[in-house]
Amino acid sequence: QELQLNLEQIEKSGFEHFMLKEIHEQPNAISDTYRGRMLVKKGIIKMAGVDDNIERIANAKRIIIVACGTSWHAGLVAEYIFEDIARIPVEVEYASEFRYRNPVITENDVVIAISQSGETADTMAAIKLAKEKGAFTFGVCNVVGSSISRETHAGAYTHAGPEIGVASTKAFTTQITVLTLMALKLGKFKGTISNSDFQFHLQEMERIPEKVMKALKSDELIQKIAYTYKDAPNCLYLGRGYNFPVALEGALKLKEISYIHAEGYPAAEMKHGPIALIDEQMPVVVIATKKGHYEKVVSNIQEIKSRKGKIIAVVTEGDGEVRELADHVIEVPETIESLTPLLTTIPLQLLSYHIAVMLGKNVDQPRNLAKSVTVE
Ligand code: AGP
Repeated sequence: QELQLNLEQIEKSGFEHFMLKEIHEQPNAISDTYRGRMLVKKGIIKMAGVDDNIERIANAKRIIIVACGTSWHAGLVAEYIFEDIARIPVEVEYASEFRYRNPVITENDVVIAISQSGETADTMAAIKLAKEKGAFTFGVCNVVGSSISRETHAGAYTHAGPEIGVASTKAFTTQITVLTLMALKLGKFKGTISNSDFQFHLQEMERIPEKVMKALKSDELIQKIAYTYKDAPNCLYLGRGYNFPVALEGALKLKEISYIHAEGYPAAEMKHGPIALIDEQMPVVVIATKKGHYEKVVSNIQEIKSRKGKIIAVVTEGDGEVRELADHVIEVPETIESLTPLLTTIPLQLLSYHIAVMLGKNVDQPRNLAKSVTVE
């Protein structure tokens, strides 16, 4: 018993929980994921699974992404990146819904499964179905040799290292890293991204680990915010564009480890219903980084403020406009819009972590949840 406890302490490398350790591992996990693939000086991206099948993937009439939970959120971010950079139409599906409909899949489709564990039953079943219908299947998994990685025609691993905490953190950011590299590679092959833009993306990606490190420095501020809102029964998360999936992910993190009811929405959807929930009791986390509909998000913040909601804003370093309006401001370094999810996710992970710890919840093993869902 004592030996096992010590072993666990060693595995946590001084962090109180695996989740916190894994949040802090993200700078390395991201660079481990692009290292050897992204050759910045040469201006190329090498990914064997993509290189060997480049014609098939680049000429896909459609990419369908299937996943569950956090991996599904990474898929939503990828939808923006693939359409933006590689100009391939993308659909993102809950694996559990996809497999039980009669989906239209053709041989010209590429189906990408995203799964940290590579063992999620619904995602696995969705891939089998896609294969049966003749689609080319591609796996983005973290666990080497996992079922989904073996079942798919090709794939690219995230090099996040083992993720023990049930709440997915570094798997999410490394999935986005892999999918971004893939979109860039396809965009270059198809000529839908200019050489200079391609190069600029690589350079910016190379700076992400250092920027994640900087984002992690807001930990103390986030602890104070967590203390203020830990007893809230509900919380809203809003974002637009690339940061809409991040809002969903922030809400999922809070729900699963602190058991506080949280909802993520695209900020502009507020006025179609959720705005009715806002009063002085409601904390609203808004992702309002510069670029990407910034002014529109600012006006969404004004709408919340006039209804007395409490605003926790995630902004770009040096932002002044939102600071005037928000109750709390958490800064992240500036980067290009498509890479902002890699930074804006960090404070949301920390916020849910600290709230759950303050509420005395079992952060690494929340009730009713398993790390990998191998049953339907
Ligand atoms: C995220 O925090 C969850 N634990 C969960 O949503 C998870 O992402 C989902 O079950 C999918 O798992 P997978 O990536 O291993 O397929």
